[in-house]
Amino acid sequence: MRKKIIAGNWKMNKTPSEAKALIEELKPLCNNKDVDVVFCVPAIDIPAALAAVKGSKIAIGAENMYFEESGAFTGEISPAMLNDLGVKYVIIGHSERRQYFAETDETVNKKVLKAFEHGITPIICCGESLTQREQGVTMDFIRMQIKIAFLGVTPEQAKKAVIAYEPIWAIGTGKVATSEQAEEVCGGIRACIKELYGTAVANAIRIQYGGSVSASSAPELFAQKNIDGGLVGGASLKPDFGKIVNYNK
Ligand code: PGA
Repeated sequence: MRKKIIAGNWKMNKTPSEAKALIEELKPLCNNKDVDVVFCVPAIDIPAALAAVKGSKIAIGAENMYFEESGAFTGEISPAMLNDLGVKYVIIGHSERRQYFAETDETVNKKVLKAFEHGITPIICCGESLTQREQGVTMDFIRMQIKIAFLGVTPEQAKKAVIAYEPIWAIGTGKVATSEQAEEVCGGIRACIKELYGTAVANAIRIQYGGSVSASSAPELFAQKNIDGGLVGGASLKPDFGKIVNYNK
């Protein structure tokens, strides 16, 4: 059985001192032995966040990184820098990165390969726009995103990857996908991974749903066969996140 993984995506919120305070508040609420819990925080907050989660099982993730080792890339953060601090996960290709910072399936693929090279688990984001859903091309679009993201990824690496299915129309809108819609696409993603890597990898890989997940929607979403947890934005900044982590209690 796949262990659930529930990750917060803080986006561009919280200063380092606010991060420390929020983690101190959330830490006692995020105790569920059935779930891997990750806080993906702004890069500048990572040292404070790592110090604040000490003594708990909460892992710290980054929200982005660059795909080069080092060099003249002003403002970027390398995988070695994250690794050196003790960062275990990194969100790759979030739709906001694609929309505002020109990320493409190709840069996503380069970042995924680099993350694995440095022993950091990528949380690989995919998801369709409202137009794509209405045109009936959701699965075609997501299969393309997945196939390019995984180019050159070995089966051993793929097994450890996390995929976050986040329909763009559900992100930050309060318009959560129904569990049927979310399960249908997450099942489709697993089928795509099976075509690429076979049954063992498809059964091992963890697929999250993201997009307006709340304490009330989490239990039904996470009970779906192909949904192995969630990537949570807005609700990860509130005590509600503790309820989401304890969705099965
Ligand atoms: P949301 O964000 O939960 O606020 O919709 C999810 C995400 O962007 O990862």
